Amino acid sequence: MTRKEALDSVRANVDNENLARHMLATEAIMRALARHLGEDEEEWGLTGLLHDIDMELIDGDMNSHSKLGADLARELGASEAMAHAILCHNERHGIPLETKLDKALFCVDPLTGLITAAALVRPDKKLAGLEANSVIKKFKEKSFAAGVNRQQISLCSEIGLELGELIELGLVAMQGIAADLGL
Ligand SMILES: [Fe+2]
Repeated sequence: MTRKEALDSVRANVDNENLARHMLATEAIMRALARHLGEDEEEWGLTGLLHDIDMELIDGDMNSHSKLGADLARELGASEAMAHAILCHNERHGIPLETKLDKALFCVDPLTGLITAAALVRPDKKLAGLEANSVIKKFKEKSFAAGVNRQQISLCSEIGLELGELIELGLVAMQGIAADLGL
């Protein structure tokens, strides 16, 4: 699967621009993380890009979410490792996170929302001037973007990253595609 094929499929299945941007942001962070950890950048990036591809197809049935997504990813040519990471990122299935890829996707998923929210409360609503320290502060403020699961992000320790490291890496990755994210 090429990145273009993956992106075309995302565009064909996702109308909500914010959802598409969340998937692009997840891709960017997963690529940066793979580079940092010496893992397969393409495999990790495309897993991030595709992970919520079924969100509009499941018609609100969260018990189907990520099962359908993993099937769609397989049809596109995703490896079993990629499909497994997509499948288990939805906690409802109770499938344990096994690989580094599983754990990475799981902790990056909510991080995009935290960083986006931290950018949007700035006067310019942009990522460019946002600093990692300020995102870390927002992480600690439980009432800020309260829907963002902090515990899930903290699981980065299981892939050998401290929270501050993950936030910094995630922020820089999202800043790198700020125009695509509309931020
Ligand atoms: Fe997601």
